[in-house]
This record gives sequence, C-alpha cells and structure tokens, in this order.
Amino acid sequence: MATLAHDVADLDLADAGQPLIEWSAQEMPVMRLIRDRFTKERPLAGMRMGGCLHITSETANLAITLKAGGAELRLCASNPLSTQDAVAAALVRVHGIPVFAVKGEDSERYYGHISAVLDGAPQLTMDDGADLVAELHKNRHELLPGVLAGTEETTTGVIRLRAMAKAGALRFPIIAVNEALTKHLFDNRYGTGQSTIDGLIRATNVLLAGKTLVVCGYGWCGRGLASRAAGLGAHVVVTEVDPVRALEAVMDGYRVMTLEEAAPGADIIITVTGDINVVDRRHLSVLKDGAIVANSGHFNDEINLAALDELSGGVSHPRPFVESYALRNGRTVHLLAQGRLLNLAAAEGHPASVMDMSFANQALCAAYVAGHHDELRPDVYDVPADIDREIAALKLRSMGISIDELSAEQQQYLASWESGTA
Ligand code: ADE
Repeated sequence: MATLAHDVADLDLADAGQPLIEWSAQEMPVMRLIRDRFTKERPLAGMRMGGCLHITSETANLAITLKAGGAELRLCASNPLSTQDAVAAALVRVHGIPVFAVKGEDSERYYGHISAVLDGAPQLTMDDGADLVAELHKNRHELLPGVLAGTEETTTGVIRLRAMAKAGALRFPIIAVNEALTKHLFDNRYGTGQSTIDGLIRATNVLLAGKTLVVCGYGWCGRGLASRAAGLGAHVVVTEVDPVRALEAVMDGYRVMTLEEAAPGADIIITVTGDINVVDRRHLSVLKDGAIVANSGHFNDEINLAALDELSGGVSHPRPFVESYALRNGRTVHLLAQGRLLNLAAAEGHPASVMDMSFANQALCAAYVAGHHDELRPDVYDVPADIDREIAALKLRSMGISIDELSAEQQQYLASWESGTA
C-alpha cells in the first residue's frame, strides 16, 4: 500500500493552527535560542527522524527546530486523543512537515500512523511512551539496522525501554530525556500538576474547594498534582506502594491510606502511577454516587475499564470528555476522557513555558546522539549533565534571573577535606 504524504483531520485548519504555534513560541525562549543555533550549525543535516509525540503547539515548535537543524522529520501522535488538529494541519501546510495524527483516531488508525512514520525509515527516533520503538522492534525488524539512536520523553516510556534493555531486546541506544532534572522536576511536577487540574476543570467545571481528591501515585506527577489540588482547597489523599514516597506524602501534609480505604470517601480519584488496574473493580464498586474517576498517566490502563463496563448498566455522555456509568448498585460514576491522559485529552497538555525545557532536552539530545551514536551501545542513557545544566542556565537567563558563582576560594574548599570544625 502506498504511504500517504500526511494524514490530518483537515488541512484547512492550518490558518487556525499557525497562530497557536506562534502563541506557544512566545513562551519557549530556550527553544528559540536552540533553533537559531540549529539554523547555523545544522547538527541534524540529512538525518531521517521519526517522532511519536503529542501533536500540540509546543511539539510543533520542537518539530520546526528539528527541521531547522536539517532533520527530515515525520510525526505521528503518541496518544489517540491528544492531537490538536489545527496544529497538525499547520505543520503540514505551513511548515512542510509530514504529520499523521487525527484527534479521536481509533486504535487501527493510531498504529497505521506509527507505521506511516516508520515507512520513512528513521535513523533517529523520538518517542513519548515508546510505542514507536516497540513497533519497530515487534513488527518492523527490517528497519532496525538503519536506526542509529533515539530519545524518550516520558517516565512510562523509560520504564518500558529499560525493560527492553534488561531483556536484551533493545537494538539501539536511547537517551532518557525524562531523567533530565530540567525535564522531570518541572514538566512532570508543575506541568502535570497544572494541566491535570486544567483538564479536570474543563471537562467537569467542578469546584475543588472542599472536595476529597485522591491522588494515586506520589512520583513527580503525583507530587505536582497533589500540591495544585491542595492549593485550590481540595482535601488531598495520597495512595502509594512505595514506603519512602508514602512517608514523603505524609510529611508534605497529606493523608495517606490504601485506595481501598480512600475510595468510599472520594469525590475525585486521579491516577498518575504508570501501572495497570490501579483503580480496580473492588474500588469502583464502593465509590459514592457522583464520584469522578480520571487518569493522567501515559496509558489508559490505570483504571480497570473492563470492570467498569461490567459493573455498569448503561453509559451516558453529559458533556465532552465525560462518560457517566450508571452502576448496577444504583450509583453513577463519571469517567473522564475514556481513562486516557486527562491533561492532553480534555485540556492542552503542559503549558509552553515548561515544555520549553523538556523539548530543549529533546532537541539537544537529538543533536547529541546524531554526533555520538557510534560511541553508545544499545541501552538507555541519561541526558548528559552539561546539556541539563545548560538548559537550566538558558531558562534562568530568559527569565532575567542571575545567580551567584562559586569563588575560587569556595571551589577550593569544596574540593578539600582538611578543614572541619573551626
Ligand atoms: N506532554 C505534556 N504536555 C505536552 C504538550 N503540551 N505538548 C507535548 N507533549 C506534552
């Protein structure tokens, strides 16, 4: 079958998409500096790249930067619900970047789009959740010898890739962008914190003040979500499986308990764990009438949707991104965004200012692996520390913030051991 040149909802949406890309660009000063550098230095000249990312106005700015650096880029969505159709159209029509992504695409079309990106025989991959890399390894072996390296954006993808590396299955090196401090400390915490609340409010218009909101998982995303929900007056309950994180949540001032204990009192439950069936049948069946259940983790498997279906006698759709399940026990449970990641499905994902740093890591790591892939074995690597520090310094500079420098005396002191109690 011939590959399509692109597949977007409607190319005529491009006129609406381009201003959105420019709007985000205003909040992406680090990306702008990198784009200027890439335009001059062309570190990706002639590189065929395949990107599987959320197709948003922020991703558009990354894609334009990669193209400025010389990459021949194809893009598909990393989630069936996260595509901004107008942005996808503008990327094709205004920027000449082949995009294969339509908001609301079904699973067959989603994987067809990944396949269309792989038809471009990428030398570099850029993934968010590792679906592109998994497809390459599962179904497109013939392309593997041509792949030099890749990057991965998110916690879930990094966990998957580490499992691949451990099993000896991974065939090329990948930089775990998520592990950069300038990624997860900001994107996962402040980005997910704010955009999840944004998705919750856009989908439901619920008042958070006085509500009991259960956050499942206290990684960086959970920490961010808990703090933003508390800031809006919710009574936050945290559930965890890791004792250290649970203890941290306790000392951060939240109530910590099992989900079994928390579920009957919950007004809202949001999962951010990266694991499956966190909200399971036994939790769903004790929820109170009108409880809201949502997920902001990468995949739509954190809530047991099959059990929810089985427990229910019918589903209605009172608002976009809300499905109300009338359970056989007489209660109604509202599921948001089909259990897919709420912040990108019902809202616009993280704000541009925070994606500026995440995608600065993506761009600089792509340039890094383009130049260094032959020094790396097939494995999962951290972002080089100098890239991380450079991005933090550039971001601070863009905010007009100066910081102190160590004096020669202080540097020498830190490198010595002789002086102790004076
Ligand atoms: N992941 C979370 N928010 C995002 C955004 N705005 N664009 C792309 N990927 C994202």
